[in-house]
Order: sequence, then C-alpha cells, then structure tokens
Amino acid sequence: MCGIVGYLGEGNVYDILIKGLHRLEYRGYDSAGVALVSPSGNINVFKAKGKVANLESFCQSKDLSARAGIAHTRWATHGEPSDVNAHPHFSEDGNIAIVHNGTIENYKLLKDVLEKHGCSFHSETDTEVLAQLIEYIRVTNKCSLLDAVREALKQVVGAYAIAVVAKDDPDTIIAARQSSPLAIGIGENGSYFLASDASPFVEYTNECVYLKDGEIAEIRRGVPLKITNLNNEESTVDVTTLQLSISQLEKGGYPHFMLKEIFEQPSTLRDCIRGRVVADGDRININGVNDNKEKFRNAKRIVIVACGTSWHAGLIGKYLLQDMCKVPVVVEYASEFRYSNPIINADDVVIAISQSGETADTLAAIQIAKEAGAFVFGISNVVGSSIPRETYAGCYIHVGPEIGVASTKAFTGQVMVLTLLALAIAQIRGTLSDEEIAKVGKCILKLPDYVEQVLKLSPQIERLSLIYTYARNFLYLGRGYSYPVALEGALKLKEISYIHAEGYPAAEMKHGPIALIDQEMPTVIIAPQDHLYEKIVSNVQQVKARGGSILAIVTEGDSVIANLADHVLEVPDVPECLSPIITSVPLQLLSYYIAINKGKDVDMPRNLAKSVTVE
Ligand code: M6R
Repeated sequence: MCGIVGYLGEGNVYDILIKGLHRLEYRGYDSAGVALVSPSGNINVFKAKGKVANLESFCQSKDLSARAGIAHTRWATHGEPSDVNAHPHFSEDGNIAIVHNGTIENYKLLKDVLEKHGCSFHSETDTEVLAQLIEYIRVTNKCSLLDAVREALKQVVGAYAIAVVAKDDPDTIIAARQSSPLAIGIGENGSYFLASDASPFVEYTNECVYLKDGEIAEIRRGVPLKITNLNNEESTVDVTTLQLSISQLEKGGYPHFMLKEIFEQPSTLRDCIRGRVVADGDRININGVNDNKEKFRNAKRIVIVACGTSWHAGLIGKYLLQDMCKVPVVVEYASEFRYSNPIINADDVVIAISQSGETADTLAAIQIAKEAGAFVFGISNVVGSSIPRETYAGCYIHVGPEIGVASTKAFTGQVMVLTLLALAIAQIRGTLSDEEIAKVGKCILKLPDYVEQVLKLSPQIERLSLIYTYARNFLYLGRGYSYPVALEGALKLKEISYIHAEGYPAAEMKHGPIALIDQEMPTVIIAPQDHLYEKIVSNVQQVKARGGSILAIVTEGDSVIANLADHVLEVPDVPECLSPIITSVPLQLLSYYIAINKGKDVDMPRNLAKSVTVE
C-alpha cells in the first residue's frame, strides 16, 4: 500500500530513487513522484499518473540534480489517481515536501482548522493536510523541521510512514512511522537510504534499521542516525544485517515475477522445510512451538486470523489442526474479527497469518487477541515486518521476496508451515502416533519433488488455457481440504484476469450455484483421491448432467473423472493433508496463462496492492 523511498548521499539521487520505486511498485502503482532537494536549495517536485515508467518519461527533460530526495509510488486512498493527488505533497509556501504511506483519519478536522488559518489545498489527499500542518507549526513556532514533525504527529490520528524534506535544511530527511513500515539503510560515507522495505537499498548496504511505531528518525548527512519518540525521548538504534540478495528481487529470465514465483515453489518449499522435518522425517521441529509447549498443549481452541490468500491458507490450517491435533479451530477474516466483539479467552492460541507481515486488519486483530490475554503466534514471510514483531512467537515461511501481487509461493509456504505446525502440536498433545507423524514427515520431504512434477504440466495448462480464456464466469469446486483450494483458485483468476470466478464447497453447489451452470460457464473441480472422492464424483456428474464443461484436477491414473470431465490435469498421489499444495499449483498456472492470453499485467493487476497497510 504505497511505497516510499528516500536517499541522502553522494550517489545519483534521482537514479537511486527511481530504481527504488520500481522495487516498491508492487505496493501500489496508480501514480508516482519524486521531490529532489537541489544543490541550490530548491525542492523540485515531479509527479505523474500511472506507473513509475510514466514518471521517468515525464522527468526526461527536467533538471534532476539533487543532494537528497524522497519519492513515492501510490495506491490511492483519499482522492482518485491523478497528477495532483500523486505524492510528494508540499506546503503552500513550497518549503517542505512529504511522502506518506497510510491514512490520516482526522484529516478533515485538521484541514478545517488549517483553512481557518488561511491555508488552501490543491489535492484531495490527507497527506497534503499533513504537509501544511507541519509547515504551519514550523513557521508559527519558529522551530526545527524535526520538532514541527513531532508536534504535527501528536495531532494526527491514523497510520503513517512519512519522509519529509525542507528547502532550508537540505541535508536532512525526517522520517516517522505509526502502523506502516519504514526501514532505514545506513550507507557508506555518511549516506542514508529510506524505504517501505529494504529492497530499494539492498545493493548499497546490508545495514538496516527498522523503525518502530511512534518513532521519529532524524537522518542527517554524515551524522549518526538519531531516533526519538513523540515525547522526544531517545531510542536505541537497533541495526539488523539484511539477508536479502538482489537476484531474489529480479525476474531471473522469466517474463513475469508471478511465473518465476510459481516455478520457484520446489525450492521455496525446500527452504521452508529445512531443519524443521528432522530425523529422516520422523520428527517435526518448530522452534516457536517447542519454546511454548505449554501454550499449545493446554490450548482449548485455536483462532486463525488472516486476509485474502492467507485466509485461504488458514482454512486449510483448520482442517490440518482439527484432524491432527483434535482441537477446535475457527478461522476469521481479520477485518471482520476486529469489529465482531470477538470472544477470546486466555487459553486460546491465536494464529495470525500474513505474507507481508504488515496487513493492517491482521495487525489490529493481533492487538485485540493480545489484550484478551491469548497467546498469539505469527506466520509471516517478511523478516523484520510488524507481525513477527507484534506476536509472542512465530514461524517464517522462508519463501523469499514475493513480488507478484497475486500470491503463489507464499500460499504454498503458508500451507506447508501450517502442516508442520499441526504435526508439531500433535507431537506435543499426543494426538498422533510416532508412526503417523513419520508417515507424513517422510512425504513432506518428497513434496518439493512432487511439485516439480506438477510444474511439468505447464505446457499442457498453457494449451488448455486457450480454451478457457474467453469464459466470463467460472465456478471452482472442492470438498474438504480441496474446498479452500477452490477458493484460492477462484481468487487467483479474479485478481489477474478480471474474470468473475466463484469458489464453492462442491456439495453446496446444489443449494444455489447449480442454477448458473450451462455450457458457457466452466467448472474447475479439485478432486484428488481423498476420503471424499466418491462424493465429489457425484458432484462432477451433477455438473455434467446439466451440460457444464469441466476441468478437473485429479490424482494420476484416475479414469473415472477422466471419463466425465472435458479435461483433466493429473497430479501425483500424496497423503490427503498434503494435497492442497499439489492441487493449487496447476490452478496458479491456469490463472497465469488465462491472464496472459487476455493481455493483462499479471504482476501489477489493476486496483490491487501487495501489502494492504490501510483498513
Ligand atoms: O500480506 P498478507 O498475506 O497479509 O496479505 C493478505 C492479502 O492482501 C493477500 O493475500 C491478497 O489477497 C493477495 N493479493 C492474494 O493474491
């Protein structure tokens, strides 16, 4: 949700900012802009609607010399995507410029007050209000930029990560965060970088400071970083060594990040499993579980909170945890949970799942669970993000940066971690025998190879996609473990091809959606050979009897469904609890190829952002 970049140093400021914006474009891409603090002490602001490439074209003939700068790629909240609403915003006197990720909830109130003091506004954004407020305070109180930012933020209700520059203080950037991420890179020769995540500066430095909520950083050329809070109390500067590599941030020969990430899954699953399935598959070792055995042993209930694809992974987690650990599980959309007066008890374990680790609704749900005294466990991908920091214990999925907006390798990583978690908790609670654990553990070790096998279906799926590209609606059906896979398959198709698709429990079809079935609407049925196989065969027959066309994902060698369906994709035979990882991969590829056939931008689908840091 909006990406921020900042730089102060001897390098080419504009180039560094633009490259950084490209890295953060997954966070939003409806407009972009830069504010360059020129050597002569001016602030030149250039902005353009659309992707960062549009900004680059716009800037071609401009004076881009700078000693420092800030930049932004936007996902609109207040005001439509347009040049004028694009960031950076500046104060009316043009003395300060600001970029912002988040939402200022009381901006209307602040705007009314500022208007009474004679300020006028040019954009519809909440951010311009903050720019004017900071400058108003700076002029009225005759104070430093740092003090003005601090005073302004005391009046703000909402979420923000901001970076501010001032004309008369050209060697300084002031940055602050509350509920939106911000990382500071410490470069050579007194230079500094600033970004919504570390990817824009990973090639320049591996020394990174993640700002915490309520902190303000004073970034001055050649001066050690100083961090204070809203009460002007100094905090320690915790420097983290980054483990990211540039190759993880590039397409590596693939036409799109999404395809690269789909094909990375054998290796990301290996990384996810490494060190966690031990003794030749006989035992499961999850540190966050081992360190908190009592919490998991005594849990009366597990509550899973997440959004989007992570919520689908959570639904699979419910089947896993109930099957293996015999513990009741509820799965909630974090956005609904937080406003539903949730009843959480001290003996509940709450599991928050989030690829980005920054989803605002999931963070709010965590807060509620903590206040109710529950033990909160996080499953995340981004090291150092807010969710791992806000939870009591947790487990990374270790799939590397996921840049395609449509989640693929993070989904299979989340499902893998949930499977390991269920096995680890079953070990502690004694709900599975050693033999049962070893049987699944040994299969998990082979799972990356099976996924490699599934990826070989890619050419077949590409051909099939041509048949299905022009359907206007799709139905995805599955039962048991395959029901959340159906939901996830439908979401992937919607997100990147803009085709309406609905995921449904196959047996529920006859209670309504069956009315939609005709030759025009393909049904994708996820039907591996599990304990509900016979039941889903009936569902296949019901669709067939009504003239619907069927694409089925089946276990290799299945001749029954092969005779009923129009097309089948065969996947390897794995234990039921591991089937979601195997069956979701062909659906990712199907969505990808359909979207490509339709000429869509799969990595940056319209209206979406990778990291949803606003409500
Ligand atoms: O970072 P998170 O896992 O918390 O994100 C949750 C959703 O926003 C995310 O899964 C979204 O649905 C993706 N675009 C799915 O492809």
